[in-house]
Amino acid sequence: MNRVTISGIGIKIPDASITNDELVDSFNTWVDWENARRSRTGEPMLQKSSSEFIVHASGIEERRVISSDGILDPERMAPRIPRRSDEDLSVMAEFGVASARQAIEHAGVDPASIDLVICSASHQQRPYPAIGIEIQKELGIPGAAFDMSLGCSSAAAGLHLATNLVRTGAQKRVLVTTPEIISGHLSYRDRQTHFIFGDASASLIVEPLGEGEMRPGRFEVVDTGIWTQFSNNIRSNFGFLNRAMQEDTSIVDMTDNLIKQVGNRVFKEVTVAGHHFIVEFLARHDLTPHAIRRFWLHQANARMNAMILRLALGEDADHDRAPMVLQRLGNTAAAGAIVALKENHEDLKPGDVGLICAFGAGYSIGGALLRMM
Ligand code: COA
Repeated sequence: MNRVTISGIGIKIPDASITNDELVDSFNTWVDWENARRSRTGEPMLQKSSSEFIVHASGIEERRVISSDGILDPERMAPRIPRRSDEDLSVMAEFGVASARQAIEHAGVDPASIDLVICSASHQQRPYPAIGIEIQKELGIPGAAFDMSLGCSSAAAGLHLATNLVRTGAQKRVLVTTPEIISGHLSYRDRQTHFIFGDASASLIVEPLGEGEMRPGRFEVVDTGIWTQFSNNIRSNFGFLNRAMQEDTSIVDMTDNLIKQVGNRVFKEVTVAGHHFIVEFLARHDLTPHAIRRFWLHQANARMNAMILRLALGEDADHDRAPMVLQRLGNTAAAGAIVALKENHEDLKPGDVGLICAFGAGYSIGGALLRMM
């Protein structure tokens, strides 16, 4: 069995940002219009959103999106992303390539030496040809590629798979890429979720280490793991049967086909599950959470992360112990923990151990125990 390293980490954060106030203004304008209509039909009135609630409940202050055009327009409230021809690089592949190039450069490797691409994200732009194969072609990577998805644990699950394929020698060098374009699948008219998500792309290069080899500044992947348990509390019904489930097939009705979540139930259930996962995963290595120098947790909710860490450590963890990127990026689904890793690892000392732990739809949890070399 090979020892395994993450030799490169790359991220791409879009330029366009939307603040809570901008998002709430647009939502509340739409609510006024909608309530005027509802007052005539007798439908129940909608409640307004507020920036104070968003910051207090989630810790999110702003989010980045690949296209802000259209999101704040109360008549549209969805990003406007021009359709591309089949001959052009697709939007999701382009976003994956952007972070993958950074990861390849960070690893200092030739794309021709990579033999597998795993595009692992919570949403895939299309079923086939796999986005991973398009990324493979664009980067000039030989071998094979495929797509996979495990909600917000997608990157951790991709890393789990890549690590074990490299450990066993089945693959030589793997690119795991997680281009998350949540803005395209979010209902900006849903008070429960409109403020949560943002877009980001993250990529990892996973490869073997030689016997006794140490690469200063890089992580050895000590272990990885995943856990799932079915829940409807974070759900998307979007899929290939949508058209067939309607009488009028001329246009697909998106009403029940965007992200929906019962946030407070997710909060409670996943906090408990996340805590158990961390404790049990570390126990496989005779470690307790106290041994972890840095936690790169899923970037969904600041209070949730604080609670998981309080349960695990018996005390509050500061930002040095558990860095946050969600306040400026929103919940970037599976990319979030990898963005936190990229931005917060260079100060670690040889021998320091850190833990990636992502959680989300499924329910799903994915973890990776890393040791700085
Ligand atoms: N603006 C103002 N008030 C709002 C609001 C909004 N946008 N959304 C909800 N509220 C109100 C509710 O109506 C409720 O009011 P009430 O007490 O008068 O009934 C109150 O705020 C609390 O609502 P609740 O849904 O219980 O909020 P919360 O404290 O659970 O926070 C989330 C909501 C979504 C931020 C939080 O539940 C969360 O982050 N959950 C975890 C999500 C997650 O981790 N997902 C992982 C996969 S991506």
